[in-house]
Amino acid sequence: MQIAIDGPSSAGKSTVAKLVAKALNFIYCDTGAMYRATTVLAKEHQIDYGDEAKILALLKTSKITFQPAPQGQLVFLNDEDVTLEIRTPEITNNVSQVSALPQIREELVRQQRVIAEGNSIVMDGRDIGTTVLPHAELKVFLVASASERARRRFEENVTKGIDTPLSKLQEEIELRDYKDSHRAISPLTKADDAIEIDSTHLSIEEVTAAIVKLANERK
Ligand code: C5P
Repeated sequence: MQIAIDGPSSAGKSTVAKLVAKALNFIYCDTGAMYRATTVLAKEHQIDYGDEAKILALLKTSKITFQPAPQGQLVFLNDEDVTLEIRTPEITNNVSQVSALPQIREELVRQQRVIAEGNSIVMDGRDIGTTVLPHAELKVFLVASASERARRRFEENVTKGIDTPLSKLQEEIELRDYKDSHRAISPLTKADDAIEIDSTHLSIEEVTAAIVKLANERK
């Protein structure tokens, strides 16, 4: 069984997707982490974030992998643990430029389909229900107001010692939403057969329970 969870930045997709995967004993794939790791790759090699050919060549000779860990999963770029680096403001504010490059998307979508093949999986991102897994048995489009998403990101940042004002976070979230929804290839859109859940006034546990219930109904 495949479950696709899409939606805008900071709507709680990865937190919820991880919990849903745990509850159902499915594997979990965070596709945003793959676009972020690709952005780290460009940064480390001092390649312009718009240089599609150079980033693609490096991506094809690199390996992005996930490893389970008690505090969630670790993200590796080749042998390097990039779990923390992929969440830094530098990467967060440039990932939409890299993810808009058509050949980068093509390569990562290919890798994502390989990960999903033959597995019961929960995959979260922006284009999972529309492009990566169009035949997923359950598609969820998870949204929340921009101010609530900024508030959640602010609280998460406090625990990581990242000190960005709330108003700036909301601006950055709105800008990333705009870029992700207006790019030419696989923009962020709700699949026709996706179920929309607005998490603005719901707890993580409530959203998780709603998705697990929907999944069990479709098994
Ligand atoms: O989900 P997360 O915020 O970590 O995603 C980071 C960025 O990666 C998004 O803003 C978007 O530009 C890109 N992305 C994408 N397609 C996906 C997942 C993420 O374009 N399936």
